[in-house]
Amino acid sequence: GDVRLWGGRFADGPAEALERLSASVHFDWRLAPYDIAGSRAHARVLHRAGLLSDDELTRMLAGLDRLEADVADGSFTGTVADEDVHTALERGLLERLGPDLGGKLRAGRSRNDQVATLFRMYLRDHARIVGGLLAELQDALVGLAEAHPDVAMPGRTHLQHAQPVLFAHHVLAHVQSLSRDAERLRQWDARTAVSPYGSGALAGSSLGLDPEAVAADLGFERGSAANSIDGTASRDFAAEFAFITAMIGVNLSRIAEEVIIWNTKEFSFVTLHDAFSTGSSIMPQKKNPDIAELARGKSGRLIGNLTGLLATLKALPLAYNRDLQEDKEPVFDSCDQLEVLLPAFTGMMATLTVNRERMEELAPAGFSLATDIAEWLVKQGVPFRVAHDVAGACVKVCESLGIELDELTDEQFAEISEHLTPEVRTVLTVRGALASRDSRGGTAPSAVAVQLAEVKADLAAQ
Ligand code: ARG
Repeated sequence: GDVRLWGGRFADGPAEALERLSASVHFDWRLAPYDIAGSRAHARVLHRAGLLSDDELTRMLAGLDRLEADVADGSFTGTVADEDVHTALERGLLERLGPDLGGKLRAGRSRNDQVATLFRMYLRDHARIVGGLLAELQDALVGLAEAHPDVAMPGRTHLQHAQPVLFAHHVLAHVQSLSRDAERLRQWDARTAVSPYGSGALAGSSLGLDPEAVAADLGFERGSAANSIDGTASRDFAAEFAFITAMIGVNLSRIAEEVIIWNTKEFSFVTLHDAFSTGSSIMPQKKNPDIAELARGKSGRLIGNLTGLLATLKALPLAYNRDLQEDKEPVFDSCDQLEVLLPAFTGMMATLTVNRERMEELAPAGFSLATDIAEWLVKQGVPFRVAHDVAGACVKVCESLGIELDELTDEQFAEISEHLTPEVRTVLTVRGALASRDSRGGTAPSAVAVQLAEVKADLAAQ
């Protein structure tokens, strides 16, 4: 028989070309367990409204249990002719319960409120999965920082040597941005805990159903939609999820880019573990940072999923339009990509080795202690404008002589400025420069230890 949910007023079945265009079952089948959970909750409110007898409810729930088991073991699946997951599962229920009972469940609901609800349920589950994977990456990065509490490296701006920083401080900067992503996921989850079930096609239901009961049944802590048009037509929850996952991708790509640079022969700051690197089919010597490159590449795809979805939503009139069927693939893809990327990325970060000698050697290079000369002069009462000039003059002399700042003689210092007494040497060490930046958020070992403790407490509280 005809499985469509809408054949009544049509003389002819759909053209095959329409069927192929219209079908979503190949990508919305993953909503099946949520659809069945929704059906159970719906059966209960139909029963409470007197539209299913006690016996009918019992048999309906048993039929849904059987259908769920058959979906789980793969003995029941949707087909192109089913159009979508909702239609396929209705067919499955009719096959199991017969048309008299099976045909009763559709009362008072529409695929429009169903799909809006199931999509939220699916994304809320995956927000938690992604959040869990993100926490594992944060743990790995915290471990990396903790294992190297005292390693200095060149801090950069414009990718040029700027001032020495602790490697741990640099790594924790990435943890900070990932913590905000994790917080975004939690806040999104709380905001999305509203159930559109009961909104019907767009206007609600005349059958005396209880959307609040369905919402509670399905775990929506904030109850049911306050507006049935908004419940069925809004997808900002999906767009926001796409943004958060794109932001995670972008943050991963920034770490990835650094790993790729650090892993070059020229930098030689890190070595990737063999298990998390790849080789070349032609160049036997190659060991490539493919995980980092895939992270960088996939961030583009995650951004595309966000912009594609926003373009779909732009200027859509209320309420439901079939355009909205295009909402799911991009966001499902964002889940899939992060769920496959994050474990590999975490493995790469957890196993890389740090070349501390190389980092330490380069930390003071490029006159990165020039700021320390200027700030030392300020402490001697020299105005910063003058101090900046004097420190700049030191760099100029060093550059012309091909030496580093700490190689200037006492005489050369004195020649540059009367304020440059030999005591200036006390700040011309990487350790001194690091230790002096001990205010909150600074790169001094003492300040980084405070930061590390805060980050760990924050992660433990999640
Ligand atoms: N499969 C559709 C979607 O994902 C839901 C069905 C709504 N169809 C309809 N003709 N109202 O958006």
